[in-house]
Amino acid sequence: MPTAKKLKNKSGKKSGAAVKSEKKARATSSAQSGPSTIDTLLDEKRSFKPKAAFAKAANAKKEVYAQARRNPEQFWGKLAEELVWNKKWRQVCSFKAPDARWFVGGKLNITESCLDRHVETSRRNKAALIWEGEPGDKQTLTYYALYRQVNKFANVLKKLGINKGDRVAIYLPMIPELMITALACARIGAIHSVVFGGFSPESLRDRIVDLEAKLLITADGGYRRGQIIPLKHDADVALAECPSIEHVVIVKRGNFLLRIKDGRDHWYHRLMQEADNFCPPVYVDSEHPLFILYTSGTTGKPKGIMHSCGGYLTGVYATTKYVFDLKDDDVFWCTADIGWVTGHSYLVYGPTANGATQVMYEGSPDWPDRDRFWQIVEDNGVSIFYTAPTAIRAFMKWGEEWPNRHDLSTLRLLGTVGEPINPEAWIWYHEVIGKGNCPIVDTWWQTETGHILITPLPGVTTTRPGSATQPFPGIEAKILDDDGREVKKGGGYLAITKPWPGMLRGIWGDRERFVETYWSKWPGIYFPGDGARVDQQGYFWILGRVDDVINTAGHRISTMEVESALVEHESVVEAAVVGIPHDLKGECLAAFVTLGGSLEFDDKTAKRLTEFVARKIGAIAKPERIIHVPDLPKTRSGKIMRRLLRDIATGKILGDTTTLADPDILARIKKQYEED
Ligand code: WTA
Repeated sequence: MPTAKKLKNKSGKKSGAAVKSEKKARATSSAQSGPSTIDTLLDEKRSFKPKAAFAKAANAKKEVYAQARRNPEQFWGKLAEELVWNKKWRQVCSFKAPDARWFVGGKLNITESCLDRHVETSRRNKAALIWEGEPGDKQTLTYYALYRQVNKFANVLKKLGINKGDRVAIYLPMIPELMITALACARIGAIHSVVFGGFSPESLRDRIVDLEAKLLITADGGYRRGQIIPLKHDADVALAECPSIEHVVIVKRGNFLLRIKDGRDHWYHRLMQEADNFCPPVYVDSEHPLFILYTSGTTGKPKGIMHSCGGYLTGVYATTKYVFDLKDDDVFWCTADIGWVTGHSYLVYGPTANGATQVMYEGSPDWPDRDRFWQIVEDNGVSIFYTAPTAIRAFMKWGEEWPNRHDLSTLRLLGTVGEPINPEAWIWYHEVIGKGNCPIVDTWWQTETGHILITPLPGVTTTRPGSATQPFPGIEAKILDDDGREVKKGGGYLAITKPWPGMLRGIWGDRERFVETYWSKWPGIYFPGDGARVDQQGYFWILGRVDDVINTAGHRISTMEVESALVEHESVVEAAVVGIPHDLKGECLAAFVTLGGSLEFDDKTAKRLTEFVARKIGAIAKPERIIHVPDLPKTRSGKIMRRLLRDIATGKILGDTTTLADPDILARIKKQYEED
């Protein structure tokens, strides 16, 4: 009897080879999966005009659109002038697709805009960070305190041999040290790469290896839903295969057990005790890399998205100021983890560049109860609240009684990000959380774009539930068809047709993939990979990914990455993963697998495979359903027809099956799916 591995070798071209050959076919098939969403969104007729009082006091005025249109470079240049530069730029933007340079010739250290300048004013004693741990411990850092900690840790980095341009991996829970260490890297021109604490040791290892990071910053552990996440233990597993790492810094979050490797591992608090208070900022070129953040793409290997200093900072500064209407007396709370781009742009950099007071929370929204977020809003007088639609849908499901227990009257602006928001959730958010008084900004952007690109401006834009409305001033977005022709009204691909300050500068170590993924669909135009529709008023309705990236619970997961993980399991011969609608998460993953030999498939096997994926990638990548099938539907040339699997999983009438090598297989798969 052949073993599973033998079978796998026989079928050979499953994971790696399938990636390239199927990419095109897959992109088209996913793009076709949207009509029902389009119809739902097109029915949406409700609109919400800005209230006069809000508009009067708003940072953004209507004229800003016209100003930016007349002279985009001047518009961005003026905003950049509101930041601290060591040497002014010669030119705002130079662009030769796909390469953009912003604030050419300028030199800066971005921590001067985020910290030093506030310390020199009355903001010195203003709360920069109001942090709350999941168990209930609290800490408030003023701008001066944050400045001191960042300076000290920058000196620690230098002592550990970190220089300008070196990569530092950060694998921490949502604690103040995550922000401190990231800013400290920026202080000395080192490049940070934050790895979300929920990622597995293998995911951490792959990123460290790709980065050739010299230093890892982690913690003994973190809290999530009352459980301890053993970060240092996981990091140790990863580090067994990371030869580039010279030192590890461990933040003591609790009293968690861990092993210390002498000479390599150091306690954060000990190093900080010995560090000098001031570290002069290292001035870098505006284009110097600030950070690398990995995100899923259409292959199994995550992409290290590179962001620069001057352009990125200008973009996050400007969008924070106008989209969130940030004022000095606001309390801003972006609920995202710093492990994702939202936490980078609207926690670490954008709000600090604006001198904001912000809230940071370590744990889960339903711990110890389902009103934790509302308790935090009430306790701290949060005025601006930014979260993901998936969270809003969970709040809706839990019921109004939880927010209604709290005084939410300090809220004045609400935001969403990460996935399309369904109008029902939008309305619920507006009424139950915002009490009908708060404008909602539905902000579209990506890890790659660095900052918000399509969004309402509160006080200016009339909003419509489910629409991210219009491009931010200075941004040019269009809907294009396959041939690059503009769709003036209707659906197509979202395209960004002019460079913008925070745009990604590349994929770390993979120029070819950068060009191929984002710049090859149409010459000189950025392709974000999203489908969208534009209506008569020029409003954009984002419909979701057109490639094999699934947006589940607001996080991007590549189906190919999950497939690659599944086929690594000894029992799995082949796997095809598709995204299907999910009430709370927006979309979730369904995995169709074939098993080797005479293996029986039962609930236990499904659970084992799910856990296997969690171990390989992280819990966020767990398939919701694993369906065992006798074979996968394939074209005669051997391509897996995921479109048909998606149709089965979503109960749709099956599409064209004439190209199938074995037409009977569908009926058998369908039967299996219904039985499981
Ligand atoms: C999706 C998160 C609809 C989109 C900042 C994009 C959205 C991907 C919205 C990027 C929105 C983000 N409406 N879809 N307001 N915001 N998306 O890189 O598919 O984690 O391509 O960045 O999320 O996800 P990422």
